[in-house]
This record gives sequence, C-alpha cells and structure tokens, in this order.
Amino acid sequence: MPPLYNPFTPSEIAANPDNFFGRSDELNSLCNSLPQGSVAIQGVVGIGKSSLLSRGLIQMEGFGSEGSAKCVIAVADKDVKSVDEAARLLVDSFVKIDETQKRIKFKIGPFLETESAEIVKNFAEGRHTAILKRLVEEEFLKSILGKDKFLLLAVDEADKCPDILARLVRSVSTHAQHKGVTRVSFVLAGVTPFFQKMVSEDAGVSRFFYRTILLKPMSLEDAGDLIETKLTKVADAAELQRISIEINPEVITKVVRLSGGHPHILQLLGSHLVIHEGEDPDGVIDSKDLLGALRQICFEDRAGVYDSILDTLDIYERTEELELLFTLAEKGFPTHINKRRALEELGEESIKWFMDHEVLAASDDDSYYGLVDEFLRIRLMLRDADSAGAQSNIERAVIRDVSNKWYL
Ligand SMILES: Nc1ncnc2c1ncn2[C@@H]1O[C@H](COP(=O)(O)OP(=O)(O)O)[C@@H](O)[C@H]1O
Ligand SMILES: [Mg+2]
Repeated sequence: MPPLYNPFTPSEIAANPDNFFGRSDELNSLCNSLPQGSVAIQGVVGIGKSSLLSRGLIQMEGFGSEGSAKCVIAVADKDVKSVDEAARLLVDSFVKIDETQKRIKFKIGPFLETESAEIVKNFAEGRHTAILKRLVEEEFLKSILGKDKFLLLAVDEADKCPDILARLVRSVSTHAQHKGVTRVSFVLAGVTPFFQKMVSEDAGVSRFFYRTILLKPMSLEDAGDLIETKLTKVADAAELQRISIEINPEVITKVVRLSGGHPHILQLLGSHLVIHEGEDPDGVIDSKDLLGALRQICFEDRAGVYDSILDTLDIYERTEELELLFTLAEKGFPTHINKRRALEELGEESIKWFMDHEVLAASDDDSYYGLVDEFLRIRLMLRDADSAGAQSNIERAVIRDVSNKWYL
C-alpha cells in the first residue's frame, strides 16, 4: 500500500492562511497593535508562538504591494552574548554588505543598492547596533519602504537572550524616537516569562511595548476544526489512490479533549493517527490508532519535554504533590481538579508553585484546576501501568466508547 497523505505538520510552523487554524483574536490583536508599538508574544513550548508570528507578518506584508509593512525576521540563540551580536542577526536578514565596493544591498523592498561608507565601516568593526540604528532612520526607510509602510523587526526564540534583546529594543527604539521615526516596531516571540525577564533587566523597556499577547491553547472548536479538516483531507487523498478510509467521529472528540487545544499536540496526535493507520491498515482511523499515537508522543516525540518537567519536580521535591493532585482529578479528560480540595490537600504555596511552573492552569471561570499539558498526566498513567504490568486507565479510557461516563 502506498503511504497515506499526511497533512499534519508537527515539526513545522503553520504560517500560511490554509494551514493556520483559529487564533483570529490573537491575529487581530497582533496586526492592530504593531502600528502603535512593539509587541511580545509569550506562551509555553509548542503553543503556536512562531506560527502566530509568521502568520502575522504574512498578513502585515500583504500580497503584492497591498500590505502595510515590510518585515525582517531573525531567530535568537543562546550564543548571542552582546547587543551587537543580536543586532547582527537582524542586519544580516535585512541587508547584504559589500565591503570592497562599499555598497549595501537591501534584501527586502525593491532590491535597492546604495553607497554608505559609514555603514560599511561599522560593519567591518562589528558595530551592528550602530548599523541598525542608522537603517531605521527616515533616509533609509524611504528607500526600503516607500512613504508610509512600517518596518517590523521580528525576533523569534526571544527567550534565548531576553536581557540582550531588552537592551537592543531600548537602544534602537530610543534612537528612532529621537529621529522622529514612528514606523518601526519590534515583535518578539518566546517562551514565558521572557518578557518579564526583559523588564527585570530594564524596567523602562516596557514602555516601548504596546501589547503582550499570552498564547493559550486553541479553543476546542478551532482544535476540532483543525483535526476534522485535516483528517478529511487524508480520506479524500486516499480515495484518489482507491484506498477507503473512514474517520470514526469519536476519535476527533477524543483527540480534541486529550490535546486540550494545544496545537503541537494536536498536530502530533493527528500525524501519528495517520502513520499508525498506514502501518496497520484496517480502513478506519479510530481509537486503536489513537492509543499507538499516545505512547509515541509520551515516550518518544515529546519525551524530552516530560523528562524535563519530571526532573524539575524532582529537584524541587514536588513529585509526590503532583501525584496527590492527580488522585484528586475527576476521571477522564481534560483534567478537572477540584479547587477547594486541592488547596486543602496541598496548600496555597504549593498550588502557586505548580501554576508558576506552568503545570497547573486555572479554568476560565476559576472553578477548578486543569493542566497546561494533559500529556504529563497521560505519561504518568502509562508509566504506572507499565510498571504494574497492567492496562492503564488511559488505555481503557481511550478504548472505551466516548458516550461512556469515563470520558465525559
Ligand atoms: N494556529 C495554528 N494552526 C495550526 N497549527 C498550528 C497553529 N499554531 C501552531 N500550530 C502547530 O503547532 C506546532 C507548534 O507551533 P509553533 O508555532 O512552532 O509553537 P511555538 O513557537 O510556540 O513553540 C507546530 O506543529 C505548528 O504546525
Ligand atoms: Mg517557536
């Protein structure tokens, strides 16, 4: 059998309008804020920060000449040790400098070239912050952007060097303001709490930021739309290959609930459902495929994420408290932990620790605690069952009918 078409993208960002789902409020908020000032996008790993950043930039750039901005994107890393090195990341994705000819060529805009002995000299001396400051002056902006577009300086993975980025944003933004330039903004994306780290490095930097967007899981409705749309594509593509595939609708509900709307987990679950059905074809994508996917994610694909959380729990001696919390959880997914009982059993300080470390999350109406990532609980359930040589609750839950109380 030829491999099944797999439209899930667990290891790629989703930035194109046709594979980017939900997030309409966040996207509007991003695009409406950028003309007013800089924006920071925060959230846990895999929640969709890079995707929102890219999708936002595509929207701002528009198609053809319609857009309102030109964007430059750089990816920070932990080897960035100075402001000049951070500036260099942006300068490099922005202009190409020809030292012998003393010319600079813009990589964005209508491929302009210009002469600037000063920029070339700064480049040779590694003074990239000075170059970036110069480039955001009106003289250059006019040639790159025309009369009224914005220049967006985007940095992804900002959590890798928040202190240095704080200094870069301050330096470039202050310079732009002194020169009367209002059409340059930064947009930074990174794991929480990178923005708080920037502010603790330099309290004043917050005034350059018009908004911070804290990304939460997608709504369950949008998550359902993602899974259903993509699984339908799998079935349609299979039909063209004369392979018949049915999608058990329960599997969609289960995937959505297990993921809690976390986009990386949605993409992973979806992708493994398809792989599993391809490897062990029975003509229907159902709970059997889901079970294979759960194990794969907990112990392979995202093993590192959970190993690191479990290590942190160990170091802070919180492991037993978490296990106690799970005994308080109602059966089924998404996890519901009674708030009053949790506070009684663990105390306020402990609960705060779990919230601060993004293990626990308060429900929308604040009536119970949920989990930031359901797979932490799933992994512990699978681990306990494996060590007891038993079939775990989670396996029974997944196999059971969704109408069963266990799942509802
Ligand atoms: N709005 C979205 N629609 C569809 N898939 C998404 C969306 N946001 C994120 N994803 C998927 O979730 C995963 C993680 O996204 P990414 O943007 O890399 O997260 P982060 O930068 O927060 O770690 C990727 O597989 C990506 O394809
Ligand atoms: Mg990212």
